[in-house]
Amino acid sequence: MNVLLIGSGGREHALAFALAKSPLLVKLYAAPGNPGIGKLAELISVKVADHEAVISFCKSHDIGFVVVGPEAPLVAGLVDDLTAAGIKAFGPSKFAAQLEGSKGFTKDICAKFGIPTAAYGRFTDETKAQAYLKERGAPIVIKADGLAAGKGVTVAMNMAEAANAVREIFAGRFGTGECVIEEFMEGEEASFFALSDGVNVLALATAQDHKRVGDGDVGPNTGGMGAYSPAPCMTEALCTETLEKIMKPTVAALASMGHPYKGVLYAGLILTQDGPKLIEYNARFGDPETQVLMMRLKDDLLTLLMASVDGTLNKMSVRWRDETALTVVMCAKGYPGDVVKGSHINGLAQDFGKDVEVFHAGTALDGEFIVANGGRVLNVTGLGNTPRDAQMKAYAAVDKIDWPEGFCRRDIGWRAI
Ligand code: AMP
Ligand code: GLY
Repeated sequence: MNVLLIGSGGREHALAFALAKSPLLVKLYAAPGNPGIGKLAELISVKVADHEAVISFCKSHDIGFVVVGPEAPLVAGLVDDLTAAGIKAFGPSKFAAQLEGSKGFTKDICAKFGIPTAAYGRFTDETKAQAYLKERGAPIVIKADGLAAGKGVTVAMNMAEAANAVREIFAGRFGTGECVIEEFMEGEEASFFALSDGVNVLALATAQDHKRVGDGDVGPNTGGMGAYSPAPCMTEALCTETLEKIMKPTVAALASMGHPYKGVLYAGLILTQDGPKLIEYNARFGDPETQVLMMRLKDDLLTLLMASVDGTLNKMSVRWRDETALTVVMCAKGYPGDVVKGSHINGLAQDFGKDVEVFHAGTALDGEFIVANGGRVLNVTGLGNTPRDAQMKAYAAVDKIDWPEGFCRRDIGWRAI
């Protein structure tokens, strides 16, 4: 079967790495892809936002399956349009993708269906929001509704910070006039991934991300500076609890609303004293969590993703390598602020060893050279018997890459080690 992969990040390179191994695959295409993906797939320039163009490409190239990586095309309804055109596509519908696209939507589902999450209030009026803040006190968490790429969240340790965060949202800094104010939850954070076909839920694996830009978890939030899988804090008992109390009820809730959730469901959790609680959902695979998941996946990804679309996940199981996979994100200096594009990266063609993969994220080709073309640029990933071993392999590979304009955190995996 011919498959089209949508996206251009490290997540999509990792998905391509897994898809390329599928016995079902005839040819892989990617739109727009990146130079790393280009080694595994034919890159095409069709505009992803132009759904008609994507459909017409699929028809002319006999595409049997489309895998949508990022959230933006999901929220824009690409899967709905492909499905309506008779093309099988992996990922949730526009309605179901609101689990990621709208924090208010998700919080309301949690309230209605008893899914454990932080207590919250949802506001479209600044005066009421400020009054709620005063009533609750700090620490407290303020979130802009809508897709704000992680930038619309303030964990306020005092009232001044909280009041200011609310003011900024209503001043339109995040392009939304809606804010969610929620209880501050205390505990370790972990990510849990599951596949759903609308009815059945198949647990995938756990991971932990590193959101802050600096060593020791300091500095501004980013898209993720590194990750590892499995997350040691997610015991089997906690995985079962998450599946039964959070994931399955969510899938049942969407089904009862007449909009079954098909795709990957990525829960951001806080392990509180009262058990796992949901911070947020993403309607897609994590980036860089996918890079570590795909290093550990033993079964065929394409078969699993197709079962999500076909409604046959009840017949599936999934096996993972017992080792730890750990990825270090190499960024262009300045990230998560402005970065300079175009610096040369050397040394990528060498053999890093069998337990290492270097996934491309924001890279581009400049003639024959690989250059930086974004904030998060490379995901250097190692597989080892222990978190420490995986960490050593990843950093040994990082140190072989010659890119003076890049940087990375040097402590990825500290919690597990
Ligand atoms: P989000 O974009 O909702 O994932 O939030 C970004 C980060 O803010 C999370 O990874 C947490 O570290 C933190 N956070 C969000 N909500 C809460 C909460 N209710 N309590 C404590 N920390 C939170
Ligand atoms: N690594 C965080 C995310 O994918 O949203």
